[in-house]
Amino acid sequence: MSEPRHFLDIDALDSATLRGILEHAVEIKRRLGAGERWRPLDGRTLGMIFEAPSTRTRVSFEVGMSQLGGHTVMLSPADTHLGRGESIADTARVLSRYVDVLMIRTTSHDKLLELARHASVPVINGLTDRTHPCQLMADVMTFEEHLGPIAGKAVAWAGDGNNMAVSWIHAAVRFGFRLRLACPDALRPPAEVLAWAVESGGDVAVSDDVEAMVSGADCICADTWVSMSTERGDVNERLLEPYRVDDRMMGLGKPDAIFMHCLPAYRGREVTASVIDGPRSVVWDEAENRLHAQKGILAWCLGV
Ligand code: CP
Ligand code: NVA
Repeated sequence: MSEPRHFLDIDALDSATLRGILEHAVEIKRRLGAGERWRPLDGRTLGMIFEAPSTRTRVSFEVGMSQLGGHTVMLSPADTHLGRGESIADTARVLSRYVDVLMIRTTSHDKLLELARHASVPVINGLTDRTHPCQLMADVMTFEEHLGPIAGKAVAWAGDGNNMAVSWIHAAVRFGFRLRLACPDALRPPAEVLAWAVESGGDVAVSDDVEAMVSGADCICADTWVSMSTERGDVNERLLEPYRVDDRMMGLGKPDAIFMHCLPAYRGREVTASVIDGPRSVVWDEAENRLHAQKGILAWCLGV
């Protein structure tokens, strides 16, 4: 039996595969907009394991499967034996006998890898403490809708070097854009991820010098200062104050620079209301594109 096509991380796939998924997502979005029915997943089921809360990921996968003709089963640890100690490996083996594809959101990246190791159906990463690749596919799609091909362009990140920052680093290498991360020294992305980017020929740099990192950017990105895998008390928010995206910071980017945020957002913390609710914010397009990008991912995983 051939290996399932897992969508675990951006760095685990080659550039041509990722570009193919995005091109398909764009076509799937066009078809939906034109009112064309395309239901290649008739009778297929996505099992969704959520160990952490979600609005966008849950709804976009549910709606996406339904639009493709399939349906979803929602699994939370509280309602399954996962919450009572049944192993991920056994859960993977059993669920693989029922569903055609699995998605997991977990605060432990190791659990994602364990699920993929033991599942005989494709596994999709719906966010871990380490990465958020589905979001990045939607983000690259959104960037390109507004500013054209992302290759060679400049993206800036301001804030915590968290799971989103890691997936942005992966994407910078695979899609060939410049990435500048403004992070406090204590909250830099993991050193091995930065080393991987350099070894892979990526144009990625990190510094606590916000102005240097953001100047000339085509796009400035922010994310919550407190991720789901982090306890609020563990985050020194004072450290992050200089990284709040405000109008002054947007002014350092290119004149037509866009603002991106994966949401949920906390106005007055990582971003001001004037930026996220202002004319350069594309966050609602980003949220919508989760639906289209994930339909591209599902189609690729299931070979349709
Ligand atoms: N951006 C994102 O993944 O949102 P949810 O946590 O609502 O799924
Ligand atoms: N970094 C955030 C992303 C939320 C979609 C978190 O992990 O909570």
